[in-house]
Amino acid sequence: MRKKIIAGNWKMNMTPSEAVNLVNLLKDGCENALCDVVFCVPFVDIAAVTKEFEGCKNIAVGAQNMHFENNGAYTGEVSADMLKELGVKYVILGHSERREYFGETDHMVNKKMKQALKRGLIPIVCVGESLEMKDEGITIDHIAIQIKRAFKKIDADDAKKVIIAYEPIWAIGTGRTASAYQAEEVCAGIRAIINDIYGDETAEAIRIQYGGSMNAENCESLLAMPDIDGGLIGGASLKADFNLITGCVKE
Ligand code: 13P
Repeated sequence: MRKKIIAGNWKMNMTPSEAVNLVNLLKDGCENALCDVVFCVPFVDIAAVTKEFEGCKNIAVGAQNMHFENNGAYTGEVSADMLKELGVKYVILGHSERREYFGETDHMVNKKMKQALKRGLIPIVCVGESLEMKDEGITIDHIAIQIKRAFKKIDADDAKKVIIAYEPIWAIGTGRTASAYQAEEVCAGIRAIINDIYGDETAEAIRIQYGGSMNAENCESLLAMPDIDGGLIGGASLKADFNLITGCVKE
């Protein structure tokens, strides 16, 4: 049985003091949730947020990006060890916004995946198709390439630890969620791709989230699907609604 995992991706929102206020609003609800809860916050908020969550067993802090090298002349970048020392457990890699606005490629995502795993961080690797790809009917072909490249030279033991977030680009921040059936079809397809690469045991173990305009109204039907093991939530993670989502996990 895969434990559900609900992660908030705050993106570039919340100063450290705003972050502390939001966490205090959400903390009690998250502590009582029956799932893993992750707060993927801006780098500058990590120290303050980690402190607020000290001693909360099912809550972890995540970053939204990291560099694939561990140190060196990479102005403005942050390494896995820096994140680890602050108590970070998860790191979002290959979010579509990073791919689109910051030129992140599948090859870079693979290097970051390997580095995160080597240094003991759990990647939340994002995949998903554009509206054009969806209309062309090449969603799963595109995602298969993203996954094969992201997981290149990663062994099954490491692959099992990774969280895959299926985030259709057309659903992100648009209010246009994939229906539970659409999302399930692709998440089941992703599990089949993992099965092809690693076999049944890894495919059954790996957790797959849905992300894209997930909110308090649609979370129940999405999370009821057999291959959807959680959510990666943007806009709705910045308000009290986030607890309605973590609270809707029943097992
Ligand atoms: P929204 O929930 O705001 O659509 O964002 C989804 C997302 O990109 C999470 O990583």
